[in-house]
Amino acid sequence: MNQNRAVVVTGGASGMGLGICQLFAANGHPVAMLDVQEDALQREAGALRAKGAKIYAAKADVSHRAQIDSAYAAIRKELGPISIVIANAGISKAEDFISMPVEVWQRMIDVNLTGVFHTIQAAVPDMVAGKWGRIVTISSNAAQWGSSDRAHYSAAKGGVIGLTKALARELAKHGITANTIPPSLVDTPLARKGAAAGEVPPIEVLAQHIPIARAGTPEDIAYACEFLCSDKAGYITGQEINVNGGIYM
Ligand SMILES: NC(=O)c1ccc[n+]([C@@H]2O[C@H](COP(=O)([O-])OP(=O)(O)OC[C@H]3O[C@@H](n4cnc5c(N)ncnc54)[C@H](O)[C@@H]3O)[C@@H](O)[C@H]2O)c1
Repeated sequence: MNQNRAVVVTGGASGMGLGICQLFAANGHPVAMLDVQEDALQREAGALRAKGAKIYAAKADVSHRAQIDSAYAAIRKELGPISIVIANAGISKAEDFISMPVEVWQRMIDVNLTGVFHTIQAAVPDMVAGKWGRIVTISSNAAQWGSSDRAHYSAAKGGVIGLTKALARELAKHGITANTIPPSLVDTPLARKGAAAGEVPPIEVLAQHIPIARAGTPEDIAYACEFLCSDKAGYITGQEINVNGGIYM
């Protein structure tokens, strides 16, 4: 992999996003970490810089285009053109469909779908200019088989899968690939929060239903991102890469 290529990771302060930042930084990439959790972001960015990584970290809400545009302007100045985007930031919360307030639906779409649109669209001109790019979206297997208390989440993630496939077709002529990873159960603060709130059974109980009888780790997801963003994966585009322990095939 060309280690000079700058990588943007949204939701980089926690969970999978952080694992992805750590792996790309360890591989020598300049990494831009964006998140709404400023304290955690700066703490994790500082830890990576202490190991010698070249890191840009800024608070940015993916649902606000102006925040993404201004972060990207700074990233281009500090790290160079953006060649790789991992659209990972997301929120998830159980909500009964029948009583779901429109605002709750809308916020889910704004962050989990429109946020992915902003994250990618603002970076694509750099990839087109460089005739090379890699896009990985983190969707969810809630979009593949539905999630009974997360209609808004399932719909937003289904949109992410459709968006990713459309981009794979539209951007292939520029040397850009776009793939999605729809995880199932990954041991992250988000998954732990859902269990602590009683929205889902404990991770260890859910894991018993997975053929590879454990929850995924942020590293499991990061390794797949690493390959999809390499030159070796140049013939893989528009795919749902199921990193899920075999629970959905
Ligand atoms: N953990 C799982 O089991 C699981 C399963 C399927 C899909 N996912 C998806 O994986 C992605 C990562 O989730 P995770 O489990 O690592 O969660 P996490 O909560 O640990 O990390 C998500 C990060 O995104 C950030 N974020 C939230 N809203 C944001 C916004 N508007 N702008 C910028 N950053 C924002 C959060 O602050 C957090 O740091 C999400 O898109 C999630 O929907 C998770």
